[in-house]
Amino acid sequence: MNQDIAKVLISEQELNDIVTGLANQISKDYKGKNLLLLGILKGSVVFMGELMKKISIPVQIDFMKVSSYGSGTKSTGVIDIILDIRRKDIDKCDILIIEDIIDSGKTLSYLVKYLKQKGACSVKTCTMLDKPSRREVDFKSDYVGREIPDYFVVGYGLDYDENYRALPYVGILKEEIYKK
Ligand code: IMP
Ligand code: MG
Repeated sequence: MNQDIAKVLISEQELNDIVTGLANQISKDYKGKNLLLLGILKGSVVFMGELMKKISIPVQIDFMKVSSYGSGTKSTGVIDIILDIRRKDIDKCDILIIEDIIDSGKTLSYLVKYLKQKGACSVKTCTMLDKPSRREVDFKSDYVGREIPDYFVVGYGLDYDENYRALPYVGILKEEIYKK
């Protein structure tokens, strides 16, 4: 285990099972629709890569990049679009936004409104992790892999100051790392 990790919260095997369950549900719900997985860079890449392989219906992918965090563990609350989605056929897309984690809820509630305004056929959200106790806006994700308590976690795409994204599990970061 990485020396900066206090504890493995969700193991590789558990993550695999969670993603399989989500992919099965999404494959059922989106049958006959024009499913577009819209990954939010960079945190969603591992989750999205695993999820798309397990979806059994036709699927397209796209990406957006937004920044809601300055650096570290506190949200600034300001959502900045760094890379936008550009598609002429957005009105025909059933967009499923793929995020690593929902925390305050500000990023996803903003993005859902934004994409509906752009004319998407439908917009829903799928997050690997959810910290419901941290919510600051009234928002519920349509698909959630696992609810977790208020720990700062890294791995499986999630970072602290751009590190730890490649860990194959979700781990609780040692406090001494971010309280330095
Ligand atoms: P929200 O707008 O507050 O819901 O912010 C969601 C974003 O905050 C995620 O996409 C992550 O980049 C980041 N985030 C929230 N909690 C954590 C965490 O525990 N570890 C790593 N990143 C986190
Ligand atoms: Mg991040």
